[in-house]
Order: sequence, then structure tokens, then C-alpha cells
Amino acid sequence: MPSLITFGPLRIEYADDTLRPRPWTEQQSSWAHELLEDAPPGPVLELCAGVGHIGLLAVLGTDRGLVCVDSSASACAYARRNVAAAGRDDVAEVRHGAMDTVLMPEERFALVIADPPWVPTDRTARFPEDPLASIDGGADGLDVARTCVEVAARHLLRDGVLLLQLGERQQVDALARELAETAELGVREVRDGAGGVLVLLGRPR
Ligand SMILES: C[S@@+](CC[C@H](N)C(=O)[O-])C[C@H]1O[C@@H](n2cnc3c(N)ncnc32)[C@H](O)[C@@H]1O
Repeated sequence: MPSLITFGPLRIEYADDTLRPRPWTEQQSSWAHELLEDAPPGPVLELCAGVGHIGLLAVLGTDRGLVCVDSSASACAYARRNVAAAGRDDVAEVRHGAMDTVLMPEERFALVIADPPWVPTDRTARFPEDPLASIDGGADGLDVARTCVEVAARHLLRDGVLLLQLGERQQVDALARELAETAELGVREVRDGAGGVLVLLGRPR
């Protein structure tokens, strides 16, 4: 049975086998929307989009295209319904599959939003109401986040940026240390949210 929640001005449908949209993530949409004011021309990519609300709210009031990617068939079905309900069929597309398999090599984006599962495996039992595949981020919670960073580095325009959601500052520090060795994308700014942290990454300037 679908459930309904409001997310900003959007009415968003979700189900028991998708993550219930978390109100605090409106902060990620707002920051993304703000970043679009100075971003190069081009579409937005949302990785681990779930039912699509964060990306949809981010591009609301803009003419940016949006590609939402998720490996859950159910989440993608709801994301398509939410795109239609928001009247954004003309600009938003939902792709079902692992994020490193559904993008064409030549596709480039001005902004990548990423909401990977970030709960360390040994803490997932604390959230019995959440689908495991939506929250389990591996031993340190960073397994899927690392893939998001790799995919973003391949598909961002030169001056594009990645806005990544993680669980806590300790994870940001660990990821920043790893990225310092690759020099592809680096951490530019971190903001705390009520239920996690938001990390802005870009290429070295
Ligand atoms: C934390 S949930 C975020 C969902 C939504 N953005 C939200 O905030 O409610 C993580 C999502 O990542 C998806 N996911 C996990 N691994 C993935 C992968 N390799 N490629 C694409 N999506 C993936 C899951 O299906 C799940 O919907």
C-alpha cells in the first residue's frame, strides 16, 4: 500500500519496501537548489534517489533536467509516480539499476546529488523499520558512498559539484583522507543536518 508524505510543496508517495522520506533531507534539496544558481549549464543526476523527492525538490523552479538512479525496482516505480505527480515528466527521467551500469560514458552533469546507504552494517539492527538495502553501507558505512564518488568523478562537468549525504563527521574525515590520495574530487564544505551530514565535493580549483 502506498503512503503519502509532503516534502516541501511536493506530495511524495512511498511504500514499506522503500525508505520513508526523511524530513531533514529537505536541507539537501535546498543546498542543491542554491548550488544550481552558480552551476554550469547542464542536467542534475541523483544517485541512490529512492522515490526521487530530494532531486525533484532540488530542481523545482528551474529548467534543469533530472536523472534519478536507484537499484530498487519499487523505489524507481514510486519515483516515476512522484515525477508525474510533480508535473516534471518533461524534464525528469528515472533509471533502474546499479549506478555504475545505467549511465552512458559520455553523459555529463552540472550537479550530482547522492544519498547512499550510510549506516555501518553492525548498526543496521537499530533501524528495523527501514529496508536493509536502503541503509546498509558496509563495515564503515562508506561502501556505496565510495561508488557514488567514483561515478560522480566520471560524470561531472569540469566545474560541476557533488552533494553527498553521509551519517556523521567521522565518515566525512575518513572519506576525505582517501580522496586526498586520488585528487579527483575533494571535500569543499560540510554542513550538519538533523539526521546526518551533507558534504560538498568538487575538483581541486
Ligand atoms: C539511504 S536510501 C536513499 C533513498 C532516498 N534518496 C531518500 O533519501 O529517502 C539509499 C538508496 O540507495 C539505493 N542503492 C543502494 N545501492 C545502490 C547502487 N549501487 N546503485 C543505485 N542505487 C543504490 C537503495 O535502493 C536506496 O533506495
